Amino acid sequence: MKKINIAIDGFSGCGKSSTAKAVARVLDYKFIDTGAMYRAVTLYFLRNKVDLNDPAQVVDALSEITIDFRPNKELGKSETFLNQQNVEEEIRKMYVSEMVSPVSAIKAVRVAMVAQQQEMGKDRGVVMDGRDIASVVFPDAELKVFMKASDEARAKRRLKELEEKGERVSLDEIARNFRERDEQDSTRKESPLIQVPEAVVIDTSDLEFEDQVQKVLALAQERMTE
Ligand code: DC
Repeated sequence: MKKINIAIDGFSGCGKSSTAKAVARVLDYKFIDTGAMYRAVTLYFLRNKVDLNDPAQVVDALSEITIDFRPNKELGKSETFLNQQNVEEEIRKMYVSEMVSPVSAIKAVRVAMVAQQQEMGKDRGVVMDGRDIASVVFPDAELKVFMKASDEARAKRRLKELEEKGERVSLDEIARNFRERDEQDSTRKESPLIQVPEAVVIDTSDLEFEDQVQKVLALAQERMTE
């Protein structure tokens, strides 16, 4: 069977990452959470007080950043490392979510991340989720999925995730953060979130998790045998 690349794009909280992760596990493909990469850059910028309006500072900071994903066998998932430090928990916190859209709108940041993502998928066999995967990172991906879900479904899911991790946030706070990020991520100048015409749209508002995974797997099987 042919090895393919699978691009999953969409707004925050539609279930892209969890679906991509499950699909990758079944296919024995690499799962790349590109949002985690932008979140790791954001964490570095916050920790080092990088001035987003100073291009020289941004470029310097980017040259100091190494991001990789390492499997955690006990947890059965891969975790994000920033300069050899496990930042998986930290990058999901609200204070990082609040800053990630302005950071990911910076051209130099995108150029650096896209280059790494293309390298990770150059031999095919990756499931990558993000905003610009089908449009910029892998315009030649054999399968392109655009996920969407109602605002309510997205916010409720994210609240559950954060509560499970012990973070105290309100549904309103999450909904507001989603609204702001949706707006910024889809209107920014550099590779905004778009739905490419050839993408298969999956609305996950009323889907069980297992069903959304099966839908993507069925589409992948078709592309792999084409
Ligand atoms: O998928 P996520 O919500 O963890 O992504 C966090 C932010 O990163 C999102 O608000 C926009 C940015 N992002 C991006 O600009 N391009 C991507 N391919 C992935 C994420």
